[in-house]
Amino acid sequence: MTRTTAAATPIEDPQGLFSRNYNRVNFMFPHELAGNPMWELKNLVALSRRMPDHRDTYWSNGKIAVSNNWESGQKDRLTLDETLVNIEHNNSLVILKHTEQDPQYGPVLQQVLARIVQLAGEQMRCDVTVGEVLILVSSPHRVTPYHMDGETNFLLQVAGDKKFYVFDHTDRTLVSDLELEKFYSISQVLANYRPERQADANAYELRAGFGIHVPVNAPHWVQNYDNVSVALSVTYELRSVDRLTDLHRINRRLRTLGLRPSPPGTSAWRDEVKLAAYRAARRLRKPPAVLRPYPVWTPPAA
Ligand SMILES: [Fe+2]
Repeated sequence: MTRTTAAATPIEDPQGLFSRNYNRVNFMFPHELAGNPMWELKNLVALSRRMPDHRDTYWSNGKIAVSNNWESGQKDRLTLDETLVNIEHNNSLVILKHTEQDPQYGPVLQQVLARIVQLAGEQMRCDVTVGEVLILVSSPHRVTPYHMDGETNFLLQVAGDKKFYVFDHTDRTLVSDLELEKFYSISQVLANYRPERQADANAYELRAGFGIHVPVNAPHWVQNYDNVSVALSVTYELRSVDRLTDLHRINRRLRTLGLRPSPPGTSAWRDEVKLAAYRAARRLRKPPAVLRPYPVWTPPAA
C-alpha cells in the first residue's frame, strides 16, 4: 500500500460543536475519513503484521455480553492473525494500538489528532499530554461490553455501522463517587452495567462517516450491525485526569484509615491541600517516572 492521504481537512465543524461540548456532553459529528482504502481488511492485516510487539494489540474471540469485561473472550483464543483475517466470521474484536506511529497510517492519523485539538481549542490543548489512535476492527453483530475510560475519546466510524450507547458522565446515580474512586485507585476494568438504567443512554445510529465524542468517564457500549466494523478511537490522556486520579487515590487511602473524604470537586481548597501533601510525599518516596519506551504524539505548543 502506498502512503495514504485523507481529505485536506478530515473534520469540519461550522456549528462549533467541539469547542462548545468538549468533555461536557456526548455528541455526534460528521467526518471525511470513510471510504479510504486504509480501512480495507487486507491493509489492516498488513498494518497488524508490522505493529511492533510493545504496542500490545488486544483481541478477544467469541460471544460477549454487554455486562462482560475486557478479559472475557481471551482464554484459548485464536492467534491475532487468524482473528483479523477471518473477522467476518469469528465474532471477534481486535484493537490495534498507537497506530498513529505507523509509517503509512501515521500521517493521516496524526492529522486527525491535531485537528480535533484545534477544533476544541485551548481548553483541550493545554490539558492534553498524549494522544493516541487505536483502530478497532470487529465482527458482524459483535458486542463491545459496557465500560468507561479514563481518557477523553472521539470514536470515528470509518467502515460498517453499529448502535452506540453512551451515558451521562456526570450522573453519580449511575456511576457513584465510590465506584469512580475504585476505578482510579484499584482497576480501570470496573464498570457495573445496570440494565434498569439502559433507557437513560443516548442511543446513536453510528454509520461510516460519523463520529461520537465520549467525555472522560462516560459509560458506553456497542452493538454492531450485520457487517464488519472499523472505527478509530482517537484518545487523549489529560492532565486534569492525572489530578483526578491522585485525588481518588488519596481518598482511597483516607477511607482505609476510617475517614470519609469528600469526593473530588466538592471543595477546591481541600483538593489543593490533599494534592500538595500527596505529591510532596510521592516526590520523597518514589523514583522518577520511567519514560515511555516508544514514541508518542503530543499536541503542538500554543
Ligand atoms: Fe471505550
